Amino acid sequence: MLRTHTCGELRLEDKGKEVTLCGWAQTIRDKGGVVWIDLRDRYGLVQLIFEEGVSSQDLLKQAAGIHREYVLEAKGEVIERISKNPNIPTGDIEVRVKELRILNKAKTPPFLIEDETDGGEDLRMKYRYLDLRRNIVRKNFELRHRMMQETRRFLDGKNFMEVETPVLIKSTPEGARDFVVPSRMNPGEFYALPQSPQTFKQLLMVSGFDRYFQIVKCFRDEDLRADRQPEFTQIDCEMAFVTQEDILNTFEGLARHLFSTVRGVDFEEFPRMQYADAMRLYGSDKPDIRFGMQFVELNELAQNKGFNVFDQAELVVGIKAEGCADYTRKQLDGLTEFVKRPQIGAKGLVYVKCNTDGSFKSSVDKFYSEDDLKAWAEKMDAKPGDLLLVLSGETNHTRKAMNELRLHMGSELGLRRPDDYKPLWVLDFPLLEWDEDTKRYHAMHHPFTSPKPEDMDKLNTDPGAVRANAYDMVINGVEVGGGSIRIHDRGVQKKMFEMLGFSDEEAQKQFGFLMDAFEFGAPPHGGVAFGFDRLCALMGGKDSIRDFIAFPKNTSGRDVMIDTPSRISDDQLRELELAVKRSN
Ligand code: AMO
Repeated sequence: MLRTHTCGELRLEDKGKEVTLCGWAQTIRDKGGVVWIDLRDRYGLVQLIFEEGVSSQDLLKQAAGIHREYVLEAKGEVIERISKNPNIPTGDIEVRVKELRILNKAKTPPFLIEDETDGGEDLRMKYRYLDLRRNIVRKNFELRHRMMQETRRFLDGKNFMEVETPVLIKSTPEGARDFVVPSRMNPGEFYALPQSPQTFKQLLMVSGFDRYFQIVKCFRDEDLRADRQPEFTQIDCEMAFVTQEDILNTFEGLARHLFSTVRGVDFEEFPRMQYADAMRLYGSDKPDIRFGMQFVELNELAQNKGFNVFDQAELVVGIKAEGCADYTRKQLDGLTEFVKRPQIGAKGLVYVKCNTDGSFKSSVDKFYSEDDLKAWAEKMDAKPGDLLLVLSGETNHTRKAMNELRLHMGSELGLRRPDDYKPLWVLDFPLLEWDEDTKRYHAMHHPFTSPKPEDMDKLNTDPGAVRANAYDMVINGVEVGGGSIRIHDRGVQKKMFEMLGFSDEEAQKQFGFLMDAFEFGAPPHGGVAFGFDRLCALMGGKDSIRDFIAFPKNTSGRDVMIDTPSRISDDQLRELELAVKRSN
């Protein structure tokens, strides 16, 4: 080893020790007769000191010539600092250097390698290896590492077996587009990168593996957002001979274990909510239950009073913002503008101020009497000083818009603290979702999800009303995981493909391997997959999963550091028989 200690471990007890340290020069302060260098490594920061009269002139000169991010080896003695720095663990000591070796020089970095940096996102991504040197960034990966180790420890302890499934597969329909890989040996044919190992983990259950898990990369060619990357990681799990209840308990256990060991947060039993209730009360299948502000439907009270907009609406729904009756005109206009943004698409916003003197003031005073508004307030359990915000229109659309407004208000009012964790299971998702564009049903989760046995008879008569044995784990409004009890019967699986508009031939061609397997003794089984990056971001109190992916893609799906995607050579194209004929 070049070093005797790391930059983070020396304390006053080490006073008098001769040490050798290695690291990067973070800051160099040259005060004429004295030079200080802060030396940094993964473990911390330590101050080196060079003094006139103690250090040789050559050494002092050498120290003064060091620049930021030079890689150094310093030998010297640990001494007590005169002016201590209580902000860092090594702040009581410094190292009086006797020998300094430059292990490598460095160009001036394009941004400050400190917690507070001057580098913008693009620049930091281009030089991600420098960004990762920053403490604040590296800490995210320490958390990620801990999460991985604890996941393995927990699942291994519960008899789950880690099995790797292939990365070059055939496409599985899971809602997103596939990334495809051309096959040189089979010209004109393609592999697909897995959107998830769904069918493989089910096959492992047929193989009798009983309990499987994998921390696995998944690939989806979809539009990117803060919580979506084209390649991301799942904790993918499957169990045989279980009911939904067993799965919920097991994986609630995993989430509890992770939060407790990694974050020191201990959860009570997770509350459970029906999908239908989540939609009715929060307008979302992933409600953020850190705060109330549940929807209250006002159709009965607000309709047939001459206000055309409400009269024509399928749904009139309100939320109550406690203590906000003193919102100014400007603030209310701001909220109206917020809901009218194209992404939200509401036509307008109605407000009712429940004034502290017991009177009411609304944007629809023309149509509603004080008594009318009082009835709304009573239904919404509003107190003097509260503000009611009301939207109306087509049910799904209005719920969606109100969900956005509710989240916005929650943030405005400071009700969404990142370190306040509120987990939730959302249960009983619909099996199918009608798609207006293609005029057919899609699987809401995926085609391998089992209908609830008691809803089975509705498959032919009212497919949209069939519920699935499907569940999502939601924490603070983030869908961190989802899964289901699977179909394990060939007949039911065939029926499911039929419902999704597959011909027998197509179903056999794409999923014959799975349906065939079901004929060789498939056990009842089910599972779940967690979005590992999302879990990490949540624990780290961040919105963007990119902060927890060492080398992420930007919002256009590009890695700007290695500059990809990129063109490949004509030779490669020709070899893959993908060559485009050029006219000249
Ligand atoms: P699902 O598609 O719900 O289920 O994915 C499981 C979890 O993965 C996370 N996730 C993502 N994270 C980052 N970037 C993305 N693009 C992305 N897409 C999904 C989410 C999500 O809850 N095979 C099924 C699971 C099962 O049924 O067992 C599946 O993949 O947190």
